[in-house]
Amino acid sequence: MTDYKALTQQYEIDVYPRRDVVLVKGKGARLWDDQGNEYIDMAAGISVANIGHSNSKIVEALSKQAATLITCPNTFYNDTKAVFLEKLFTIVPKNLTKAFLTNSGTEAVEAAIKFARLNTKKTKFIAAMKGFHGRTMGALSATYKTEYREGFGPLVPGFSFVPFNNFEKLAAAVDDDTAGIILEPIQGEGGINIGQKEYFQKVRQLCDEKGIMLIIDEIQTGFCRTGKMFAIENLGIEADMMTLAKSIAGGFPMGALLCSDKIQIEKSKHGSTFGGNPLACAAGIAAIEFMLENKLWEEAELKGKYFKDKLEKYSLSKVRDIRVVGLMIGIELKDKSQPIIVELLSKGIISLPAGTTVLRLLPPLVISYEDLDTVIEKLAGILQ
Ligand SMILES: Cc1ncc(COP(=O)(O)O)c(C=O)c1O
Repeated sequence: MTDYKALTQQYEIDVYPRRDVVLVKGKGARLWDDQGNEYIDMAAGISVANIGHSNSKIVEALSKQAATLITCPNTFYNDTKAVFLEKLFTIVPKNLTKAFLTNSGTEAVEAAIKFARLNTKKTKFIAAMKGFHGRTMGALSATYKTEYREGFGPLVPGFSFVPFNNFEKLAAAVDDDTAGIILEPIQGEGGINIGQKEYFQKVRQLCDEKGIMLIIDEIQTGFCRTGKMFAIENLGIEADMMTLAKSIAGGFPMGALLCSDKIQIEKSKHGSTFGGNPLACAAGIAAIEFMLENKLWEEAELKGKYFKDKLEKYSLSKVRDIRVVGLMIGIELKDKSQPIIVELLSKGIISLPAGTTVLRLLPPLVISYEDLDTVIEKLAGILQ
């Protein structure tokens, strides 16, 4: 039998902390490895497979599009892209009127940084401590963790970090050259830290007063994850730009930067070869249709409440705090999360860390209540 692990270790640059499993198949909230073992997926590829693995709507849309047109230069119009854009703008906040389509989250953040500088003619950005926005040079400059930044300097100049949810510190960091403030509504990588409504409302007001672009990063929180189509709906504010990716196209690589009318870009100032390609757009149409038809935000809300209520009935001596918004779940432990993640894997459950002590659970939103029960029972056994 082919040794997939050995081949990967031989040829792939070893940047990923790897689990000792070769995943070969997925359906809904279940994954299978090459030994035939079955797993309940409580990670969804970090909130990518929100509508479930190998969703049949996506499979059909991709197959049909692949047989019709796979690639189309962005200098031409394309039917599938036009339909995707129309569909996307039925679900996003109404003040966002234009999109730049990308292949990943970090590219959407790069575009936001460039567009903010171009439109404000200012250069500086403020981001939050513990925030994560991606790995390319601009997005990395807005990402807090030293481990991710170290050795890559000089990064893009002009970025500073302030504590999340602390308006006074943020306001004090603003000056006449501040072009943008970039924030996640709920910090994902940083530990499922929930943004406060009053904080975001004050930030919005400050941005209006000072002519600063407010960039809301919904890459992890978007597309029904938090019990709303987008987490910004919980905050009662409007973004000047919003970044999307991960679950936008049912698992197919895609991202988008959404802009309000404040953002104007001249022709040829930015671009992407693959951004908004027909395959991604076909998958995106199918993904959005599935979310709407199944009211997936309601599923996330109900299942998140069910999970929290049931888990909290146990006395969990290893747990400090449980934070749940929709099906975005952070279980803050008294100790490191890594051993728990390994133990869960041995019991057939795939989970994620967020920082060192938070166990992060982001299951496909189509997960069954039976699977949630299994996870709760096994989790409670480990965390008691
Ligand atoms: C909030 C947030 N922003 C940006 C990114 C970067 O997205 P990508 O990995 O698609 O470049 C991520 C990825 O985890 C993210 O969670």
